[in-house]
Amino acid sequence: MALWGGRFQSGSSDMFKQVNDSLPFDYVMASEDIWGSIVWSRALKEAGVLNENEQFQLESSLIALKKQAEAGTLDFANSPEEDIHSFVEATLTAELGDIARKLHTGRSRNDQVATDFRLWCRSHLASLREDCLNVISALLKVATRHENAIIPGYTHLQRAQPVYFAHWCLAYVEMLKRDVSRIEDLQKRLNQCPLGSGALAGTTFPVDRDKIAAELGFDSPCLNSLDAVSDRDFVLELLFNASTSMMHLSRMAEDLIFYNSGEAGFLQLGDSVTSGSSLMPQKKNPDALELMRGKCGRVFGNLQALLVTMKGLPLAYNKDMQEDKEGAIDSVNQWHICLCIAVEVLDTLSLNEERCRAAAQQGYANATELADYLVAKGIPFRTAHDISGQAVVFAISKGKALEDLSVAEFQSINDKIEEDVYPVLELESVLNKRNVLGGTNKELVIRALYVELEKLDQLTG
Ligand code: ARG
Repeated sequence: MALWGGRFQSGSSDMFKQVNDSLPFDYVMASEDIWGSIVWSRALKEAGVLNENEQFQLESSLIALKKQAEAGTLDFANSPEEDIHSFVEATLTAELGDIARKLHTGRSRNDQVATDFRLWCRSHLASLREDCLNVISALLKVATRHENAIIPGYTHLQRAQPVYFAHWCLAYVEMLKRDVSRIEDLQKRLNQCPLGSGALAGTTFPVDRDKIAAELGFDSPCLNSLDAVSDRDFVLELLFNASTSMMHLSRMAEDLIFYNSGEAGFLQLGDSVTSGSSLMPQKKNPDALELMRGKCGRVFGNLQALLVTMKGLPLAYNKDMQEDKEGAIDSVNQWHICLCIAVEVLDTLSLNEERCRAAAQQGYANATELADYLVAKGIPFRTAHDISGQAVVFAISKGKALEDLSVAEFQSINDKIEEDVYPVLELESVLNKRNVLGGTNKELVIRALYVELEKLDQLTG
């Protein structure tokens, strides 16, 4: 059923339908579209366009259709309809005839699609928020499983200073918490209702837009009809949120891929999230993690694509805007899948604590401690830094760790270094001295872990 019949003498070409039809992807908004129509039919009744009986018939059929949509029993694939809006109207018309032909009074697909898509984004963001909380929970669980584990911390991918593994986990918890708050922020901003804005200028029928908004669970109606039908900021923000969160997952994946490498050997990944090689029987590849990293390409691309699509559009609606959906649907799917797989990876990984500890002890990661020790003995930090650097060079030449140098060897470099240097150079001491807020001191890390566990409990009820 073409929605613009009267002015046209011939139908659409096959090629035009290919470029123009959005039903192949916008069918995902069926339930939202029907809900919008239910509320619109009520508004039309109150505006005197539909009588009680007409509205009742429309609402009953729409409710039945919504159930079918949610059960997945509607046949979109074989439908000739252009989009989800015409699909719903055609299905309704086949059932109710002229009554259904009254439903589009005062409404345009422009305010309809803007409303549907906001509803769709809103419900998906709610479940993506849950997905993010699940990753936070998995991070806290793995941190708790390995409360005492120490790993090397890196800068420039060079061993820098040791940190508790739980500290590493909590760093990603911070990132995921920001992802959650970005979702919550967006949920507030997108929760305005375009319905009742008509094609672009508002509608002549006396509908109650506040009531429409409230019935669809929006906080308020959009205030300007031109903006209401042409704003896609909420999609862009969703795509940005997806990109940022995927970037976080990708960095985590990158860390874990490295920790899992034969060279590092810090951890084992579960069989359920790795794959073998068709040729090399010994291989166990971190595919899930590589795909978390790899899928960022398309997710970032979807953001870029919509920004470019929107940038030159004159007010108000233009068909270009139909291009908002495929990328957003794809990004939402990929983001969801990656958040879920991150949980599986974290739940099934096991840390090789011995090997992590050994690595944390190597690489002269306690050289800063030696410098700080000399500072405590009254030497200016810059000089202390030099002396510690000389000690490292000396130790490298002897093939020893700093803590394995004798007092005499230390004193050949600087006579302020005495017997009391050894406890300072011990691994635990290196970590626990960092007891300023946010540092990797054991007590602080454990406390942060429990604070986050409690917060999560409150958030998930
Ligand atoms: N399928 C269209 C979209 O997604 C619906 C709006 C069509 N509006 C129009 N004036 N042709 O944007």
